[in-house]
Amino acid sequence: MSMTARHKTLERNITLLAICTFIAVSIGGLVQITPLFYLDNTIEEVDGMRPYTPLELAGRDIYIREGCYVCHSQMIRPFRDEVERYGHYSLAAESMYDRPFQWGSKRTGPDLARVGGRYSDEWHVQHLIDPQSVVPESIMPSYSFLAETTLDAGDPAANLATLQTLGVPYSDEDITQAMADMILQGSAFPGAGQAEFNERYPNAQARDFDGDPDRLTEMDALIAYLQMLGTLVDVDSAAAQQELSEELGR
Ligand code: HEC
Repeated sequence: MSMTARHKTLERNITLLAICTFIAVSIGGLVQITPLFYLDNTIEEVDGMRPYTPLELAGRDIYIREGCYVCHSQMIRPFRDEVERYGHYSLAAESMYDRPFQWGSKRTGPDLARVGGRYSDEWHVQHLIDPQSVVPESIMPSYSFLAETTLDAGDPAANLATLQTLGVPYSDEDITQAMADMILQGSAFPGAGQAEFNERYPNAQARDFDGDPDRLTEMDALIAYLQMLGTLVDVDSAAAQQELSEELGR
């Protein structure tokens, strides 16, 4: 029987085709899945990654609510063009506390995984209010209402407690302090509580983000979130460590 004739038999016998398809897909699946059972951890261990602060979480919720992910990804692929434009490729550990993750595949605008610290707060305020005023050719819509909307804090303690049940390592103190932490981080003069806050949330930036010191707005929360993105992990030393431990066979 020639190859074409065999193929014809397969194509015309739906049961045989289904069985052969199942076998082919199973082999492919096993090749992908089996190695994962022999790895202790698929997320590299890196220094600096910490759970998001209540204000950053609120900003992240606004980011999701407004559909920023429709135009922006948060994952720098390990390709030269991406790394040259956006910085070190994203590590799995950097999105380990993202529920849901914001990797995305659609880039109408640039990747935002390392946008933290790239621009000033004032730039972000201006850009979110009127994108074309800072980037004339921009097609990003205006989000000026964020600056006028007082942040509805909701119940940040319950939010953190829920994430804790999902495995995000918030301490009980983080939970009881959630509302106070949120106010402190966005306040114009964070004051004495900041040292204690930073002990629990290393590298968290606390200040008046939107230039309106009188109240906490949605703009404050969103910019606190944007300014944190990609700033927690010292990626170069983390990647170097990873390579070293792989070389040592650990
Ligand atoms: C319709 C698509 C679209 C949506 C929705 C959108 N953006 Fe953008 N964004 C863009 C484009 C295009 C650019 C590049 C031009 C510019 O800087 O304005 C951009 C640029 C940016 C930049 C500057 C990035 C850089 O590296 O220069 C930031 C920050 C940003 N957007 C944040 C946001 C946030 C936060 C939201 C949601 C509140 C959002 N964007 C929603 C299209 C979009």
